[in-house]
Amino acid sequence: MDSSKVKERFDRIAWIYDFMESPMEMLSVSKWRKELLSTVRGKVLEVGIGTGKNLIYYPEGTMLTGIDISPRMLERAKRKSASLEITAELLLMDVEQMTFPDRSFDYVVSTFVFCSVPDPIKGLKEVKRVMKNDGNALFLEHVRSENHLLGKIMDVLNPAVRSLIGPNINRRTVDNIRMAGLEIISTENMGGSKIMKRVIAGRPRA
Ligand SMILES: C[S@@+](CC[C@H](N)C(=O)[O-])C[C@H]1O[C@@H](n2cnc3c(N)ncnc32)[C@H](O)[C@@H]1O
Repeated sequence: MDSSKVKERFDRIAWIYDFMESPMEMLSVSKWRKELLSTVRGKVLEVGIGTGKNLIYYPEGTMLTGIDISPRMLERAKRKSASLEITAELLLMDVEQMTFPDRSFDYVVSTFVFCSVPDPIKGLKEVKRVMKNDGNALFLEHVRSENHLLGKIMDVLNPAVRSLIGPNINRRTVDNIRMAGLEIISTENMGGSKIMKRVIAGRPRA
């Protein structure tokens, strides 16, 4: 799926996205978001900010910039930030081609984004580029199962899931983060599942 199709798809579902995701949020995703974001400080970039589900979890004083490729998802994030009186710069931008100068941000945040980005390694290289030397990239992402059989099943089902719902269910996002030149600081399985990961990454230390 190329960028224009991803944009179209999220534009199409923007109106119902929060409702669609609400069972998962109630189960545990909201809690994971809160934990992930509790430590961020300074200049923060959230890529693929979507409808702005993370906005309420940023600590006070965070200087937040959010980008998304879908105008309609972003419009919802803008409305949410206005109604919550949260100051954030929200921009229409592709994570694969960001216009920010090198080393601009203390933290880059991504939640459930790199399953949809057409060229994830290109996007992750951009994440690395815009991160300060001592910056961190924080991810919550679902990934391909490490279990041999389940991984193969995900590979087989992926084309159907991608055309019906949109995201790829068999992305090796932890490997992709490494392949983009970032160093993994920690990886945790979330909710007792090896498919849901919390990853913290930084620039490789010399
Ligand atoms: C599954 S949603 C997740 C939204 C939000 N991060 C969340 O946690 O609810 C994926 C988001 O990534 C955005 N996205 C996908 N590809 C992108 C790209 N290349 N550049 C920027 N945003 C992108 C989509 O438009 C969508 O809003």
